[in-house]
Amino acid sequence: MTVFTEETRERAREIIARYPADRSRSALLPLLHLVQSEEGYVSPAGVEFCAEVLGLNKAQVGAVATFYTMYKRKPTGDYLVSVCTNTMCNVLGGQEVYDTLAEHLGVGHDETTADGKITLEHAECLAACDYGPVMTVNYDFFDNVDPQGALGVVEELRAGGRPMPTRGARLCTLKEMAVQLAGFADERDGAVADGGPGEATLRGLRLAEQHGISVPGFDPNTPIRSKAEADKAAAEAKARAEAAKPAPAAEPAKPAAATGSTAPDVKAPDDKSPQVRTAETRQPDARTAVPDAPGTKVPTDGAPPAPRDAQAAEAAGAAANPPAGDGKPAGDEAGAQQRNLKEAEAGAGANGAGPAVASETGVQK
Ligand code: FES
Repeated sequence: MTVFTEETRERAREIIARYPADRSRSALLPLLHLVQSEEGYVSPAGVEFCAEVLGLNKAQVGAVATFYTMYKRKPTGDYLVSVCTNTMCNVLGGQEVYDTLAEHLGVGHDETTADGKITLEHAECLAACDYGPVMTVNYDFFDNVDPQGALGVVEELRAGGRPMPTRGARLCTLKEMAVQLAGFADERDGAVADGGPGEATLRGLRLAEQHGISVPGFDPNTPIRSKAEADKAAAEAKARAEAAKPAPAAEPAKPAAATGSTAPDVKAPDDKSPQVRTAETRQPDARTAVPDAPGTKVPTDGAPPAPRDAQAAEAAGAAANPPAGDGKPAGDEAGAQQRNLKEAEAGAGANGAGPAVASETGVQK
């Protein structure tokens, strides 16, 4: 029996259809959220499913799934509690919040309580430093938490309640959140309008109002257009821009042959910063030194590296790092996703999901 429901397969088709046929691998990130919504983590079967529908190999999918912390590699609780212990939150007490929760729940980083309700994790900056210390539950924010407040939240969750986050929609389970992260709307009635923005977020607006600063022509009641309306407006804007284009200029006169002018020979000032110079040397078609190319010795005495053929250096790098492969097409072939999806469905129907084994690095065997 296949792991993934027909609804998930239908959603997979919908996700893939959002991308151009020759760019189908771009659908991998939402597809990983989708398979996580079904099982609570990215299982070996989930990796296999993504690989098959996108025409990738499992190593390629595993490499992406293990790079991002939002893709979980083992079964996760209904509620993922992430406590920010990064610099700003830490000085404001974030570590204390984390330690209190860890001791109370009896779990450490990336561990789940025995009742399967709560997974606890340290998080790096959650991009809400002005509300620190912060924690999130399934990526919804609880601002300015202290140890007692955080304990109250997890206890309510364990008792079956759903405390309201400080901002944003009301809580859902991690699996439900994964559906939204895959790009599907939160269909709970009025959930999105549950919570307004926090005062720290509005601080800039308040200051602008106080000082009479506004954006010319800004209408806060501008309606959000449907896709059809937006497409129509874009087409009209394009037509207007085309009509407003000036007629092509006449062929410029060819410069006269050198006449022995006495004008000084002006040379562009060479004021490029060292960073720009370094970036330029990374251009694959540059004919200058590539300091980080394989085999290049970067001198430590401040002298520039010896010039070398950058294209040869790039070829050497490619030869030293052959792409992993299991014989499957690397994807992006037109029609590959449809064919692979069909094959995956046929194979799953006949043989079940096909147990794959996750190694420690997440690469599937
Ligand atoms: S340091 Fe915690 S949100 Fe930025």
